[in-house]
Amino acid sequence: MTLESLAQAVYILAAVLFVLSLAGLSKQETARQGNALGMIGMGLALAATVVLAIDRSERSRIVTAVLVLAVLVVGAVVGVRRARTVEMTQMPELIAMLHSFVGGAAVLVGYNSYLTESNDAVHLIEVFLGVLIGAVTLTGSVVAYLKLSARMSSAPLALPGRNLINLGALVASALLMWWFLASASVIPLILMTIVALGLGWHLVASIGGGDMPVVVSMLNSYSGWAAAAAGFMLGNDLLVVTGALVGASGAILSYLMCRAMNRSFVSVILGGYGTAEGTVAPVVGEQGEHRELDPDDVAELLLDARSVVITPGYGMAVAKAQYPVAELVSRLRARGVQVRFGVHPVAGRLPGHMNVLLAEAKVPYDIVLEMDEINDDLPDTDVVLVIGANDTVNPAALEDPTSPIAGMPVLEVWKARQVVVFKRSMATGYAGVQNPLFLRENTAMLFGDAKEQTERIVAALLDPVGG
Ligand code: TAP
Repeated sequence: MTLESLAQAVYILAAVLFVLSLAGLSKQETARQGNALGMIGMGLALAATVVLAIDRSERSRIVTAVLVLAVLVVGAVVGVRRARTVEMTQMPELIAMLHSFVGGAAVLVGYNSYLTESNDAVHLIEVFLGVLIGAVTLTGSVVAYLKLSARMSSAPLALPGRNLINLGALVASALLMWWFLASASVIPLILMTIVALGLGWHLVASIGGGDMPVVVSMLNSYSGWAAAAAGFMLGNDLLVVTGALVGASGAILSYLMCRAMNRSFVSVILGGYGTAEGTVAPVVGEQGEHRELDPDDVAELLLDARSVVITPGYGMAVAKAQYPVAELVSRLRARGVQVRFGVHPVAGRLPGHMNVLLAEAKVPYDIVLEMDEINDDLPDTDVVLVIGANDTVNPAALEDPTSPIAGMPVLEVWKARQVVVFKRSMATGYAGVQNPLFLRENTAMLFGDAKEQTERIVAALLDPVGG
């Protein structure tokens, strides 16, 4: 068996491991296992690629080995450092930054392949598409990173005729591709790269911060296709398979996120939504007054309840309240109260955000239910604790056809006997939409940081008389 055929066998094994990894990641119970399988697959793929690169090298093998290892060490040190320090809420920006690397790599591979390989028509198409997708992904991801990390305004850049600009860039790229195929000259390739870098920048800059997570997932898909294109150029089957897996799963994820927010994919791409993210103070008073409780009152409510549902949201992540929340749950369960979680598909800021936090705090998986599983049980629930969620529990989505989030499926918490909303103020959530839930008769507000307030409730549960 040659080194070459051994490497191909390892590639097939790695491809199977990647598929099994995705299957594992689709369920919370098997997610860790899925992660481990993916890591083993990537380790094998990397080892086989490095061995092949050294074997095929025209330079001295030692020099090549040292160069490859030096690059690996630098990458590993930077990667491990970033992964250890990143906050869960910064995950989308980290992912955006990583996508820009994939895009940049695809551009470099494209130019390298153009300069070193024989350029037949199929190869020219591979090079052109690889560089095009890579360049759009590169600048698009950089803008997404800048917006998510608040280094750039999250408001959409509304240039006049922005859709025409995007369309113009695509038409120009098509014409340049025709020129490139006819001449095999580097000039159309360079011109297209400039156009594509501008297109990626403009496309994402025109989208509001509110839609950035969908954009990141879309760029994830692009980065997969860019990697697949690089795989074709390098004649690396594993890269083609992996790129296609990433490309397809990113596209499916973008679709699912759009559906859960009741937005069309096209409306996200065309931008202009999610500009009013954050803490816009709403005008209250006209429609009614809100009622406030303190942690002791909430503890009392919970002691009288038989069934409790907790609907967490972005505020739980910001406050890092998952640990006291888990503590609260175990105390209530020890008293025989039925406690379950209702998780909205887009609660938080990234897919599965709440599930990851709850798993981190060791909340049992079997009490963490999805929105569709819990909604029918809410009318029979004594108390719903809305912990740092807002848009995902907004009745206006179902009741007000003029609301910007009209039609978005939500957790129907207002149907429970009593609702307690944990947040710091009456401010709006991500979509910048007012929430009539806060003014309902069976709703009470518990103002303050979700973590501190939950800790106070836990303390009051321990000492109901003295608390
Ligand atoms: P949001 O509607 O964003 O509301 C979060 C609430 O948490 C805010 O109203 C805020 O109110 C409160 N909060 C912030 N920090 C807090 C703290 N330390 N303690 C207590 N409360 C705190 O959250 P949601 O219900 O999870 O909805 C998610 C939103 O993000 C949806 O609009 C969704 O469409 C959007 N989105 C999600 C995703 C994914 S994949 N998850 C992707 C794209 C968009 P105060 O400021 O008053 O405290």
